[in-house]
Amino acid sequence: MGPSPAVAVINGPNLGELGTREPEIYGGVTQEELVEMVRARAQQHGLDLEFFQSDIEGELVRAVNSASGRTVGLVINPAAYSHYSIAIMDAMQAYQGPVVEVHISRVLAREPFRSNLVTAAAADAFISGAGTEGYLHALDILQELRKRKDGGMVSAHQQ
Ligand code: DQA
Repeated sequence: MGPSPAVAVINGPNLGELGTREPEIYGGVTQEELVEMVRARAQQHGLDLEFFQSDIEGELVRAVNSASGRTVGLVINPAAYSHYSIAIMDAMQAYQGPVVEVHISRVLAREPFRSNLVTAAAADAFISGAGTEGYLHALDILQELRKRKDGGMVSAHQQ
């Protein structure tokens, strides 16, 4: 048996500060804890995890491009860039495979500028307001999207 296929999980600016950053909005889970939660859920789906976080737009663009073709799905929280980065949207659009955009908070219930969702146009699915658990739901949705694409033929040993 070869290595398991991998899913890419990419977080944008200020998400490295999870746990201490405005916990009333983003919760108390640290980035390290988040990665462990996400890795465990990915493993339940038979997937390895490639996690990347950056505060820099170009690094996020490169990470998405480099994940394309090598990973079977992308979960991305572009954070503040979600509201204005056409470069990240373009990279998500070009990603070969299903893309789920995650927001920890309820972006549509916050300041009006957060309702401008530029990158989400390139996502197959969008989760907002489920807290850090949203990343786990995103993995479940990715798996579902992969099954649909393969005509429902994904079985345990094919995952
Ligand atoms: C966020 C929402 C964005 O508006 C904000 O800039 C973030 C995090 C979220 O996960 O809720 O940094 O993407």
